[in-house]
Amino acid sequence: MALKKVGILGCGAMGSGIVQVVLQGGYEVIVREMDQEALASGVSNVNASLEKLVKKERLTQEQKADLIKHLKGTLELEDLADCDLIIEAVFEDLETKNALFKVLDGCCRADTIFSTNTSSLSVTRMAAETSRKERFAGLHFFYPAPVMPLVEIIKTISLAPEVLQELQTFAKNLKKFPIVAKDNAGFIVNLLLTPFLLDAIRAVGNSVAGVTDIDAGIKLGLGHPVGPLMLADMIGLNLICKAADTMFEEYKDSRYAPPPLLRKMVIMGYHGLKTGKGFYDWSDSKNPVPVQLDF
Ligand SMILES: NC(=O)c1ccc[n+]([C@@H]2O[C@H](COP(=O)([O-])OP(=O)(O)OC[C@H]3O[C@@H](n4cnc5c(N)ncnc54)[C@H](O)[C@@H]3O)[C@@H](O)[C@H]2O)c1
Repeated sequence: MALKKVGILGCGAMGSGIVQVVLQGGYEVIVREMDQEALASGVSNVNASLEKLVKKERLTQEQKADLIKHLKGTLELEDLADCDLIIEAVFEDLETKNALFKVLDGCCRADTIFSTNTSSLSVTRMAAETSRKERFAGLHFFYPAPVMPLVEIIKTISLAPEVLQELQTFAKNLKKFPIVAKDNAGFIVNLLLTPFLLDAIRAVGNSVAGVTDIDAGIKLGLGHPVGPLMLADMIGLNLICKAADTMFEEYKDSRYAPPPLLRKMVIMGYHGLKTGKGFYDWSDSKNPVPVQLDF
């Protein structure tokens, strides 16, 4: 089946980036949000990001207008009924995701492929709740989706080989590099990244060194583009804590146990970039300043 129309659930940080790359891949896109305000804000972020490409002369104004013509926003789930592929990118909550898939399972064609952009939840638990276990996979983009070239395709034990192939082709059409992972908590990238970030947070909690020195050590000593504590703030400390909990539950390995400092910060609303404060103060997002907290 040639995929033509893609339905995207959620137009937040990930959803809006995914909308952009799917439009640029030449597909018809319909994006669904919860309310008019969230929809307007998501679509305006897509617009602004495309406008940046125009300014950089990587897109003409006409090309941008043509892409936008292929984008539709809606508040009605049923409007996604005729899509060939669904990409879900709403809050990281299994019940929320399952409730959406349940409705779509009832109104989409039997051959519509369902996918989730979850970073840490079980794809198996979502697929099992639908009538299309062979046509349900993880499609894990990285933030920011228009920039990061990787897509992890998560395959459950039920995924049909031809659907995996279609998703690989789809990712390549978006000019992404697909890699395939089994549906184990953390897939590939987060499985390896999470213990590293948790170790950096543990180091702060154990007063091994300050935030600036830990980040400088990893950047300048290992050549990483960004230090682990700044990266943790950018990803969202709440998301990291949730992912760590999921991995600890699955592997019962202390490397994945969220350190007490992480949990305290999440409880206090220090989620990083999104809430304006984490290990850094993001009031000026281009110039984050380490927070002076008694860690
Ligand atoms: N932020 C990241 O770095 C990152 C990276 C990869 C994957 N993810 C995953 O992507 C998903 C979305 O994350 P995000 O960072 O974009 O979150 P976000 O909070 O920025 O966006 C979520 C959006 O979903 C919308 N939403 C919630 N319930 C909805 C519903 N029932 N129908 C339609 N829209 C709904 C919200 O209004 C919000 O705009 C999560 O599963 C997350 O784990 C995040």
